[in-house]
Amino acid sequence: MADMDNFKEAETFGLNTPQKTIGFPIKGASNLDWGMKNRLSRIFGKDGKSLMLACDHGFIMGPTGGIERIDLSIVPLMKYADCLMCTRGVLRSVIPPTNTTPICLRSDAGSSVLTELNDNVMMAVEDAVRLNASCMAMMVALGDERYEGKTVANLFRTVDAGQKYGIPVMGVTAVGKQMARDARYFRLAARVCAENGANIVKTYYTEGFDTVVASCPVPIVIAGGKKLPERDALELAYRAMNDGAAGVDMGRNVFQSTNPAAMIRAVGAVIHKNLKPDAAYEMFQDLSK
Ligand code: 5RP
Repeated sequence: MADMDNFKEAETFGLNTPQKTIGFPIKGASNLDWGMKNRLSRIFGKDGKSLMLACDHGFIMGPTGGIERIDLSIVPLMKYADCLMCTRGVLRSVIPPTNTTPICLRSDAGSSVLTELNDNVMMAVEDAVRLNASCMAMMVALGDERYEGKTVANLFRTVDAGQKYGIPVMGVTAVGKQMARDARYFRLAARVCAENGANIVKTYYTEGFDTVVASCPVPIVIAGGKKLPERDALELAYRAMNDGAAGVDMGRNVFQSTNPAAMIRAVGAVIHKNLKPDAAYEMFQDLSK
């Protein structure tokens, strides 16, 4: 029998204060379960926007310029990012487990730059759980005649697995060789990812991006693509945000910058403070002095 001596009677019922019904600010996520929402909130928590830092390039490109030593180049930047996108190999070997920046885990593999796109495989969701991932990222090659079906199936199955454990999935659109990188393509690609269950979609910015965002029921983040002059990369981020992006998942334009720490902080100001490109570039220059 439990010890009831000095048991404190229930009496603080807040009878005049109805329990609040809490809305959920992330696009398309209101009907998800608590674990999904909690993980999405880690990524988009502050204001529904996210500065994701991508450094998963090595899984197809090897030691790309700027990420030869992730311990030296990326780890010091993590405090400025809302989320880090990386592979499990880098996570286990280089990222300190004391890290609290949420992780978007690259969860497919298959090809390298030495060959064409090939039969991508999915990571076991249990490994994402072990690694405390906040999200799993899966490539989807729409428009690629051989691998479109395979990669959509991988996304679809990863969503099933993610649902089981409450882990969101990001669909990463890899533009098929025959496809133009235009709004028409990205509308289709983003929508196909979302309809197949992706909770976040990663695309590239393009003219007419506002229509890509409008017709996609979940948040879109953009990749930065090849290295641009810093002012141009900040403008790209600004335009994407202005057209409704939920953030960026940027790699080379940060870690290949002349000053990656200054650049990530300037990109962060565009994302979270709506800083205009000129002001953001001035910030980059000031921080670079
Ligand atoms: C490609 C990816 C990469 O992480 C991403 O595209 C790299 O970012 P950036 O283009 O900004 O260097 O998801 O599949």
